[in-house]
Amino acid sequence: MSRNSIFKTPDDVARSAGEILIEQAGTTLAENGRFTVALSGGSTPKRMYDDLAQRGEHHDLLRKIDVFWGDERHVPPDHPDSNFGAAKQHFLDRLDIPDERVHRIPAEEADADRAAERYERTLIDFFQLGPKQVPRFDLIFLGMGPDGHTASIFPGTTAVQEADALVTAPWVEKFDTHRITLTWPVINNAKRVIFLVTGGDKAETLHEVQHGEHDPDRLPSQLIAPDEGELLWMLDEAAASALPGS
Ligand code: 6PG
Repeated sequence: MSRNSIFKTPDDVARSAGEILIEQAGTTLAENGRFTVALSGGSTPKRMYDDLAQRGEHHDLLRKIDVFWGDERHVPPDHPDSNFGAAKQHFLDRLDIPDERVHRIPAEEADADRAAERYERTLIDFFQLGPKQVPRFDLIFLGMGPDGHTASIFPGTTAVQEADALVTAPWVEKFDTHRITLTWPVINNAKRVIFLVTGGDKAETLHEVQHGEHDPDRLPSQLIAPDEGELLWMLDEAAASALPGS
């Protein structure tokens, strides 16, 4: 099931996404004693992190969640481009989330494939996976680029076709670098997947992804269709401006 939720501004998107995280974490922790979330990179989630950091009444709860990443740049954790680094600065450090609950992608590895293998081992160990089993995250946040990529599944890269591994390290020609990313089958196995998409520069792409011809090699965000989970697109009005009825 996929649905759009449209908000006036990026800050409204961020605040509502934080509320969903808090609500689902609370319910899931009460039921299962554990809550797993994979964060995305980019600028939109930082607004959510900053909002959550100011909501001290929920910090005790948020210190109990297990934090993963959907993707990472091939840089050390203290590099300005690091998705972990951004989350650390805006979220993890400000809420004092314990190290043992933070499961970052070891992107400092010189060999990106080795970084992917190590993160895959992290997932197998944490989720206690047997052969061919896929982790089932409670919640995965994604962004979408104007080129239709999500996580680090970029158009025309090997990540589009990768359906066996849990984690892969595609070469991304446009950035002249590798990235490390969860594969789309892992994302599609989550209980809930939330796209955070803001900005008018994504409006046409979003329309194509949701209403255009199915062409995942050109529009990898079309790969995301949870098997037994919810897909929610949280959009600001600018990103939704090319959708029917906007
Ligand atoms: C990354 C992200 C990437 C991001 C989109 C949208 O590592 O850059 O994971 O997939 O989510 O590029 O980024 P914005 O939210 O900044 O538009």
